[in-house]
Amino acid sequence: MHAHRYSEGQCVGLAFIFILCFTNAVKLQYSVSEEQKKGYVVSNIGNDLSVDPQTLSDRRARLVFDGGIEYFQININTGMLLVKENIDRDELCGQTSPCTLSFQVIMERPLQLYGAEVEILDLNDNPPKFQKKEYFLEISESTALGARFVLENAEDLDVGINAVQDYQMTQSEYFQLNTQTGIDGNKYAELVLVKQLDYEKINKIMLYLTATDGGNPQRTGTTEVHINVLDANDNYPVFNQTVYRVRLLENSAKDFVALKVTATDFDKGLYGEIVYSFSRISVTDSNIFKINDRTGEITVIKTLDYEESKVHAMEVQAKDGGGLTAQCKVFIETVDMNDNAPEIIVSSVTSPIPENSSPQTVIALLSIRDRDDGDNGKVRCFLKDHQPFKLIPSLKNFYQLMTSKQLDREESSEYNISIVAVDGGSPPLSSTIVIHLQVSDINDNPPVFNQASYAIYTKENNNAGSLIGSVNAFDRDSDQNARIVYSVVESQVLGLPTSSLLSINSDTGDIYAVRSFDYEKIDHFKFSLRAQDTGSPSLNASAEVNVFIVDQNDNAPNILHPLPNSSDLSSEIVPLEAEAGHVATKVVAVDADSGQNAWLSFQLLKATDPSLFVVGFHTGEIRTARQTTAKDAGRHRLVVIVKDNGQPQLSSSTSLNILVAEHLSDSNLENANVENLEENDQKLTVYLIISLAVISFLFIASLVTILSIKVCRPYRGGKHFVASGLTLPAGYSDWKGKESLPRSYFTKDRSTTDPQNTGPLMSMPANQHASIVVDENQSSHILVDINCKAEPWSWMNAEHL
Ligand SMILES: *[C@@H]1O[C@H](CO)[C@@H](O)[C@H](O)[C@H]1NC(C)=O
Repeated sequence: MHAHRYSEGQCVGLAFIFILCFTNAVKLQYSVSEEQKKGYVVSNIGNDLSVDPQTLSDRRARLVFDGGIEYFQININTGMLLVKENIDRDELCGQTSPCTLSFQVIMERPLQLYGAEVEILDLNDNPPKFQKKEYFLEISESTALGARFVLENAEDLDVGINAVQDYQMTQSEYFQLNTQTGIDGNKYAELVLVKQLDYEKINKIMLYLTATDGGNPQRTGTTEVHINVLDANDNYPVFNQTVYRVRLLENSAKDFVALKVTATDFDKGLYGEIVYSFSRISVTDSNIFKINDRTGEITVIKTLDYEESKVHAMEVQAKDGGGLTAQCKVFIETVDMNDNAPEIIVSSVTSPIPENSSPQTVIALLSIRDRDDGDNGKVRCFLKDHQPFKLIPSLKNFYQLMTSKQLDREESSEYNISIVAVDGGSPPLSSTIVIHLQVSDINDNPPVFNQASYAIYTKENNNAGSLIGSVNAFDRDSDQNARIVYSVVESQVLGLPTSSLLSINSDTGDIYAVRSFDYEKIDHFKFSLRAQDTGSPSLNASAEVNVFIVDQNDNAPNILHPLPNSSDLSSEIVPLEAEAGHVATKVVAVDADSGQNAWLSFQLLKATDPSLFVVGFHTGEIRTARQTTAKDAGRHRLVVIVKDNGQPQLSSSTSLNILVAEHLSDSNLENANVENLEENDQKLTVYLIISLAVISFLFIASLVTILSIKVCRPYRGGKHFVASGLTLPAGYSDWKGKESLPRSYFTKDRSTTDPQNTGPLMSMPANQHASIVVDENQSSHILVDINCKAEPWSWMNAEHL
């Protein structure tokens, strides 16, 4: 046998298979109860295999297990199979049934193998067992009859009949117990409601549940089942009003409780507890109102605005703890308050408007709005100030602001028009807007000269181009309409165009002389000026200008008789023994100037016999001062000086011969006295110088005297030349160089308009003044001009020269 070559273990395995193959019929089968003591005899293997104990021993019979605990052993002396370890079937196999243990019996020489199988029999060694000692169930009182409530099943480690077979329960009028078998074969119990529960009668039930197995002896397990009867929600909440209405003033204070809804529920406890909520409410209103879910108070959480919503409608739901609900409707009306001022909306403004706009010209369109209702929204609109405007209502709430009369920019160039809107609330609210209106200019005012006519006084001999006067015109319009351009209206003055005499600065109105004027040629002329504005169309005005040329003393007296420097000195003849005052002749002179400049005075400058002749100061008449006698006979030579009264004073002189003779033919005397006269002339010059020195001395002496008097007592002014005896001939008319008579300067023009020109006699300053003027041009004459208001003799002294 090739089996010998194998090792012992391998040989055992092979032998085992071999025996199984060939001793298939030999299988030992036993059964033993679990939980047997050690050494408990299961069977006699020797007998079962028909082998005597000696053989068993000789052949070294033994048991071979597949591993794990060796529960059995063999006594080879007796051949008995014994329990070696405690066997717990429930631990070994659980719920598996049947539960078997297998091993082999081996004998050597020859090797023999026998299979053995021991079935472990169950003992009822475990009671049924509930996992918890008590169970809780909650069942509503409203639960329908026949309802089933599955209970926890009990467990039993034993199997088969030793497992749970039945349940029992303490008696109850409300429940029946049914024992059922589940799909895994385990038994379980269920409660069936057989009588309507009533929470109000009994709300707690306790039952004992017992599970029993089928073993012998029978074992049991018990648990408590606590049943809580639950109250059913058998009452709905009920609102005490189905509709709530409330009126609230808008602007009600925040957190103001608007109203309170109330619902009642007859259920007790949870089912009687009501929770309020809005079931239907707009999104807007949900931001305005809040409901207290416990009390049902509805609170305003945001100020109401009538203008936004007049009525707030919502639904409130009351819900009890069992979920039953009821609804009510809530209407909260807002009552308008005058909380909105009127609004004035200006839709269009026309500004500026021209001042010549006709009355009823529309300036602006306004619309008035007040968001309040009723009287609170009735608006009255008016103008605040008294102005040339009016408000005319047009469409509803629309007004037109228009002019009520024609405007005048020159009166008012802009207006602030205040428009007030007042509503009818109490107290009323108002608003004001101001429309600023500008009035644009129209050229409706001509320029106006500041004088209707102008008089310009200008001295003759002026420089060409010198400024001689100025005019001014004003225009009440503005800008271009008020810009003035001056011009001279062309006309003829003494055959000359005005423009050759004058020019005007078109911007400033300054008038310039184009040429030098000569009073002696033209003393007065007039012309027209125009002032024109630059508006379109332009307006203009004109004014008359009188130009008066003021005379200057530019002409020396012109002696007409006797002609000065004439070679033939014709002689006037004075008869012997002529009376005093006999007019010998008359010096005739004219002055081309006028007024004072032409007022001539005559004086005797030199005379052969100064005591014989006097010259009329104003008349120029040469008269005898005394009766002539035969001693005076002969030729007398006189030098007469003619002076005007201008400033500077101009003078001319002439000389003449006077023959004092019996009769005209007595002319031989003339020649005889010529040399004598020449001598006399020289003497006269010496006298004159001495006189001058004396006069000067006297003058200085008197001046010193006067000054000392003045220093001692204050000067009393007021008395002038008229008081000094220098009376002027009245009624002298103005003069144009045609007459030889001296003229008064008291002409109307001079005395009123040109006081500067009144000359030294009339215009001397009030203080004392004396001057000695030596005329360079006429150096042969020395003029002494003494003016002294307080000393009337001064002029007389001068005359004595
Ligand atoms: C109008 O109002 C403006 C601004 O308040 C002010 O400057 C102006 O002087 C006012 N004009 C008149 C005419 O009152």
